[in-house]
Amino acid sequence: MGNEEKAVEYFKSNYAGFLEDLKGLVRIPSISAAGFDRKNLVDSAEAIAVLAKAAGLLSVEILEVNGSHPYIYGEWLGQKGAPTVLLYAHHDVQPTGEIDKWETAPFEPRELDERLFGRGVADDKAGVVATLASIASYLKSTGGLPLNVKVIFEGEEEIGSDNLENLINEYRDKLFADFIVLSDTDNYDIGIPAVTTQLRGIVYCNVTVSALSQPLHSGAFGGPIPDPVQSLAKLIAKLSDEDGKMTIPHIYDDVAELSKEDKESLRSLPFDIEMFRHHSCLLDGVSLIGEKDFTPNEQIWFRPSLSVNAIQASSREQVSNIIVDCAWARISIRIVPNMDPEKTLNQLVKFLKDNAPKGVILDVKPFTSVPWWKTDTKHMAFGALKDALTKGYGRDPVFIGCGGSIGFVEPFTKALNGAPALLIGVEDPHTNAHSWNESLYLPDWKKCIISLIHLFENLSKIS
Ligand code: BES
Ligand code: MN
Ligand code: MN
Repeated sequence: MGNEEKAVEYFKSNYAGFLEDLKGLVRIPSISAAGFDRKNLVDSAEAIAVLAKAAGLLSVEILEVNGSHPYIYGEWLGQKGAPTVLLYAHHDVQPTGEIDKWETAPFEPRELDERLFGRGVADDKAGVVATLASIASYLKSTGGLPLNVKVIFEGEEEIGSDNLENLINEYRDKLFADFIVLSDTDNYDIGIPAVTTQLRGIVYCNVTVSALSQPLHSGAFGGPIPDPVQSLAKLIAKLSDEDGKMTIPHIYDDVAELSKEDKESLRSLPFDIEMFRHHSCLLDGVSLIGEKDFTPNEQIWFRPSLSVNAIQASSREQVSNIIVDCAWARISIRIVPNMDPEKTLNQLVKFLKDNAPKGVILDVKPFTSVPWWKTDTKHMAFGALKDALTKGYGRDPVFIGCGGSIGFVEPFTKALNGAPALLIGVEDPHTNAHSWNESLYLPDWKKCIISLIHLFENLSKIS
């Protein structure tokens, strides 16, 4: 038996233990969003450091830069002369959303029909444990790896990766590698592995409309008093037309047209509109919106989109006959090649200010943004990945775009002098990432780990 096969066999025999590792991490509610206990991220980092050491990684340490949430670093550099791969995943998770809507408690992992349920099971603790399991399986069964590996697990991916620049400045040499492998994206469907070749970026701002120093009785004062909720609603309504196309002037000016290759690649993918409706959790009677000249995948991967992520003005629990004092919203735009994040953010902020509702106070706070990323697939590393996924899943992968964002990719490929970034993962259309009842399809998680084992072997042969 060759080393690759030994590692695969080791993984299969020890699968139950790796699954327990994943469940252990899911029990730690490592929510990175503001207002949640940072201690959980420290606990999560420490638990991962323990697993990384047990996997056989050396120089394992927890890195914090500029007060960031903790990153975990580990390495095995025992293959002199062989290339080095930097493996990435993130250990922070999204808040649970309405807890009553979860059929199982979000931080008590539960297996049901081959799926594991819990917050962060797929996004992205599956990625963390997949990375460690593939390394452990190789090291434990053969005493080495065919190439050098470094791992970095981030603790603030879900809040925009604000400290990546600091991480790069401080640790660029430590993190230097020939290839980057990220386990944090979608498969195209169950059993259909995918290589993600582009990501949208995102810019956002918080908008507050204020009128009063405290809420008022709506009967005693309603009439002459401006209503911040109506003002905010009017402002938001101006951002898009009936079809959902953005109305901000020049916002589409820099958007790249789809290339011939893009169109061909899209055409080669199986797509079924009813399936798409189902995966999108659309209720019966709800119609799709957006730019009519583009298919859903074209819109999600190649076109910008605007979302209102949250609105707050009093609450459903506390609703009463009042005029509220202020209304708040988070507004974001997903950006695509070749949109400039700063320029887009300025266009959004300017539009909001130019359309400021009359007679109230408008405050717009822009955020740091995440850039889009797009790669060609000419580098030999993509061939190595394709072969590895074919071995792991028993079928060819498809090449896809992604509507979501990962802050790490663009700045790191730059910092590593254009090292190829290979994006794979185990989220699927049924995962419910960021929503209630998030879940991971375990058979594909297994296949992903086996693919990573083959990938090490394949990448080791690229000079
Ligand atoms: N794993 C996702 C990225 C992703 C989204 C992959 C959709 C595949 C499909 C990642 O954890 C994520 O959610 N990223 C954030 C980044 C943001 C905070 C800058 C996102 O896209 O909202
Ligand atoms: Mn993720
Ligand atoms: Mn996410």
